[in-house]
Amino acid sequence: MGVSRVFASLGILLLVGCSLAAGGSGRNVWLSDLDISKTQQGWGDPHKNLSVDGNPLKIAGQTFERGLGTHADSLLYVELNGGSSRFHAMVGVDDEAGARGSIEFRVLADGKQVYKSGLIRSDDPAKQVDIDVTGVQVLVLAVDSGDDMNYDHADWADAYFTVTGTAPKTVDAPKEEAVILTPKPSPKPRINGARVFGVRPGSPVLYTIAASGRRPLWFNAENLPAVLKIDRETGRITGKFTKPGEYKITLVATNDLGEAKRELRLVVGDTIALTPPMGWNSWNCWGCAVDEQKIREAAEAMAKSGLINHGWQYINIDDCWMVRRGSDDATVGGPTRDEAGRIRTNKRFPDMKALTDCVHSLGLKIGTYISPGPWTCAGYEGSWQHEQADAQQFAAWGFDYLKYDWCGYGSIVPEPDLKQMQEPYRFMRMCLDRVDRDIVFSLCQYGMGDVWKWGAEVGGNCWRTTGDITDSWGSMSGIGFRQAELAPYASPGHWNDPDMLVVGLVGWGPNLRESRLTPNEQYTHISLWCLLSSPLLIGCDLTRLDEFTTNLLTNDEVLEVNQDPLGEQARCVAKDGPREVWARRMEDGSTAVGLFNRDEVPQTVTAKWSDLPVTGKRRVRDLWRQKDLGTFEGTFGAEIPRHGVVLVRLFPAE
Ligand code: GAL
Repeated sequence: MGVSRVFASLGILLLVGCSLAAGGSGRNVWLSDLDISKTQQGWGDPHKNLSVDGNPLKIAGQTFERGLGTHADSLLYVELNGGSSRFHAMVGVDDEAGARGSIEFRVLADGKQVYKSGLIRSDDPAKQVDIDVTGVQVLVLAVDSGDDMNYDHADWADAYFTVTGTAPKTVDAPKEEAVILTPKPSPKPRINGARVFGVRPGSPVLYTIAASGRRPLWFNAENLPAVLKIDRETGRITGKFTKPGEYKITLVATNDLGEAKRELRLVVGDTIALTPPMGWNSWNCWGCAVDEQKIREAAEAMAKSGLINHGWQYINIDDCWMVRRGSDDATVGGPTRDEAGRIRTNKRFPDMKALTDCVHSLGLKIGTYISPGPWTCAGYEGSWQHEQADAQQFAAWGFDYLKYDWCGYGSIVPEPDLKQMQEPYRFMRMCLDRVDRDIVFSLCQYGMGDVWKWGAEVGGNCWRTTGDITDSWGSMSGIGFRQAELAPYASPGHWNDPDMLVVGLVGWGPNLRESRLTPNEQYTHISLWCLLSSPLLIGCDLTRLDEFTTNLLTNDEVLEVNQDPLGEQARCVAKDGPREVWARRMEDGSTAVGLFNRDEVPQTVTAKWSDLPVTGKRRVRDLWRQKDLGTFEGTFGAEIPRHGVVLVRLFPAE
């Protein structure tokens, strides 16, 4: 071999070696040697030199020694401060995801998109990213999910910066001040909450008039059917119908500043949950560290904080109230059922009836949870082969809501076909139909078999459309903005459920933290869930609500979008990259519109009348600020902060 040939092959070696050691001018710094814990992602934790599941990084059979394993939707901010000249990576879906991953990688340099991979699916070979980042201050590495959010295991393999000056450093996403946009509620009476209420003949009616305004407030209900009575002090309407029918009642709330009146349509028939259920659930907050005391405190806080005056009513116990199979922890272990087969609570719930009575005495309703399988997700007793007994027990205890979570049923049918997926839900529906209590039936099976297409048919009032939410932008936005196709399946009594709210102090127990969503992300979360007609189940500690969170949960004009009797789910009517416009018709002929910005920098988002669709002049009202913005024709646009929203309602202009 001649000398030149030796140098030539050395040159090749050096070039190949670029990705391993020094390249061009400057030194290479591996992304994985930076603090990758700053990665925000939709599921799991980021891993150094390993996939999200902790396996060696592998894309289409090619293994990589170094890199970052994450999960869409993912964001990582890296401060370059002008010190790097190139960014290199090999990107793709990690092989551990099987055949179902689909993702897109993007790189933003000082807010501008400088790289986009296009959709990459499982088994696609790794794509090379090799971009000039000279002079860039902040680089954002983003991964968006593709077809759905499942199995989106994303690898930034062989990722390094060529550094000529200051070393790169990962940083937190920009901090924001928690600005309260909504004016303080008026001391005058205002009636809030559902305008339509469904009850089955033979089931007890429990409707608490939700009204804000300075106390004492006095309540009345004009045209109240004779079988019902109202408590003038608490605004609670109780009684029982024997026959189907429909009634229009005028609710009245009075204090020394005036009087508010509003019509309530009471529908006695087969369908309940005519507006999306609004309440609280213990899971995102306490996880399995839940006990009777925490449930009581949540109920008391819902009443005392005034949430009840804005339509919030369910207090739902999630997993872990039953006996844990095979546990030697005396507080949760022991016999799972009594001699008659009746389900037992664990010692953390010493008296379920007393607990439900306590919650009802506050004018609230109470929910429970179980699995159709032999055990729940957390390994507690399930309803398998005790379904009717359990439904009866739930009714006898006085429950008003049941979340029925697939989980342990996977051990009965590991690879269910559609019929098998539906079976346990149909069966529990039949059991619930035999009890004389209205129990909202919430299907939880993470969207399997496109549950939205048959959830109503098997008797569900709502059905989870996704896996579990967590308090990250990737998770919340990945779930929320993915609900567009599901709009046709929502209607009064039948709701798509993109999972519970992650605002306030959450933590899946026992240790709680502030939601990691930024203030704007939280406005987006609540606005989107309201537009989507989603069940609203608060997942935080109600005994420690801060002012910002309270404001998020008590804006009546925003909640009215969620509780609109028409029950439409918003559709995504326009999408231009990260700019999205979602809209839904309201019963009064107005249109609720969300202008969303999913980008890392502020963007102007514009709603076009032709997309909504509406015509003519419209009065535009900002719902978070509760302020008219003026009369507009043809379009309405606003500058929207990073990950933020402007939620408006368009009324025909006089
Ligand atoms: C999951 C469910 C969660 C929570 C948890 C309890 O399957 O999606 O919302 O209920 O089980 O173990």
